[in-house]
This record gives sequence, C-alpha cells and structure tokens, in this order.
Amino acid sequence: MASSGNELREEVRRRYAESARAVTGEGDGCGCGSGSCCADDSAATAIGSARFGEALYEAEQRGELPDAAVLASLGCGNPTAVADLHEGEVVLDLGSGGGIDVILSATRVGPTGTAFGLDMTDEMLALARHNAREAEAANVHLLKGVIEQIPLPAASVDVVISNCVINLSTDKAAVLTEIARVLVPGGRIGISDVVAEDGLSAAERAERGSFVGCIAGALSKGEYEAGLEAAGFERISVEVTHRVADGMHGAIIKAVKTHERDVRSQPAMLQQTAAGCC
Ligand SMILES: C[S@@+](CC[C@H](N)C(=O)[O-])C[C@H]1O[C@@H](n2cnc3c(N)ncnc32)[C@H](O)[C@@H]1O
Repeated sequence: MASSGNELREEVRRRYAESARAVTGEGDGCGCGSGSCCADDSAATAIGSARFGEALYEAEQRGELPDAAVLASLGCGNPTAVADLHEGEVVLDLGSGGGIDVILSATRVGPTGTAFGLDMTDEMLALARHNAREAEAANVHLLKGVIEQIPLPAASVDVVISNCVINLSTDKAAVLTEIARVLVPGGRIGISDVVAEDGLSAAERAERGSFVGCIAGALSKGEYEAGLEAAGFERISVEVTHRVADGMHGAIIKAVKTHERDVRSQPAMLQQTAAGCC
C-alpha cells in the first residue's frame, strides 16, 4: 500500500538520522558502521552499500575533508565537480547530510562567498556542523528545513547543488519551483541524482528498490527535463553517468534559470507523492 507523503518523509528522516548516528558511533544496530545502511536494497548497492558516493570524490578532494564527512557521504555523484563554482558565489546544497559537498563548496567560493546547507534531519545537521568546524569552514551556514520550502529569500543564491536527495522528495514540483525561486536570474544548478529510463513505470521503479534507498522515488530523464522546463529553466541536460539498477542510473543534471513560470504548469508526475512505491 502506498504511504502518504508525510509518512514517507518521516521514514526518510528516521533512516538518515540513523545513518548520521552510525557515523558518530551512536547507531544502535544497522550493523554497517559508516552510515552506508541507507541503501538497503540489493539493487541499490551502487549508491550506498558500496559507499559509491565517497568513491566519486578525488583523493585530493577527500584530503580537504574531515574523515567523518567522507564517511557520511551518501550521495550518488559529485555535484561540486560539475557546478563550476567561483570565488564570491552563494551556493545552496539541498539535503546537505554530513556536509561533504557544502564544505567542498565553501572552499571553492572562498571567504567572500557563502555555502548554505539545508537538511531536515537534526542528527545530520549536528554532524555537518561538527565537520564544518573541523574543516574550519567559516563560510558554511547550515539551515534546518525542507527542500520543498527553502528558508531563503527569492533571488538570493547563485548556484544550487544537491547529491542524491531530490529523488527522496514527496513533492518534486515544489522542490523545482523553490530552486527556481531562490536562484538569481541566470543562476544555475549542478545536481547529482538517480534517474529512471523513460518508460519505466512508477511500479517498475519501486520493484527495483525502496523510496528511502533512493530508487522508488526517482524521476525519469524526461520527467526531470519537463519539470525543470516548467519551473523556468533552460539549457537543461540530464546526463547519465552510471547504472544503479536495471533501467536506473546515477545522473548529472544541469540547467540555467532564465525566467519564472507558474507551478501549475508542472507535469502531474512531479506532483504525485509515492504512487506504487514501498
Ligand atoms: C542520501 S542522503 C545525501 C546526503 C548528502 N547530500 C551526501 O551526498 O552525502 C539524503 C539527505 O537528504 C536529507 N533529506 C531528505 N529529504 C529531505 C527533504 N525533503 N528536505 C530536507 N532534507 C531532506 C536527509 O536528511 C539526508 O541528510
């Protein structure tokens, strides 16, 4: 039976709180030690169980980070490698987890720039704050909130990044609309996420893995493109990078915000909660 949006979000929050506790040694029995229990599906080993996210960071980048930030990496890509950040820019990392991408971004934008991390899970925020302090990243600001309602003013961010989080949202239309709202005109996104091949139904995605394991909630490539276009983005690209399950892939999503659009023009698929999942 499909869960409601609120129940699913709470399940996601619980799972990632447990992952954060596993990294700090406070976990009570997921048995995987490093937080990698987040991808519990056999289909999702490429995302979490094999610590795939961590492997996507160059040794040089890992060297810039506290060990706990690397251990807490639960992403499916490396958005800082594609976002082309510049000195002085304001960056927002959606679902910042243990802080790996927000800390790397802070270094890229330098002392005149700002790196915001947004997450809904207290345990992840505490871990990221600890890691940012260890990395002496004074320009990191961690915010508590949900990516469907970003707690920042309109047109206040140059670049939005995110690593394996948008698939976990129960209202993707709201997320894409909020990204467009907070970006300055000409602002850009560099996002890593799981995407399904076009034509894979919601039920088929759910057969390949759970919602909390970053599989069942993945948009298809076409749905991502249509959603971004409806939210006011141009120069959209969804580039598949690696297979995570049959017909499902890690991908890099890039686009530029050029104009505003009304959320009512969002395709229906992005406004569903969790049809066919779990
Ligand atoms: C798969 S982890 C990825 C963490 C981090 N981006 C990384 O690469 O290690 C997902 C993170 O997103 C957060 N998250 C999931 N759904 C969210 C939502 N709707 N709003 C805010 N944070 C959310 C979780 O708390 C968790 O920290």
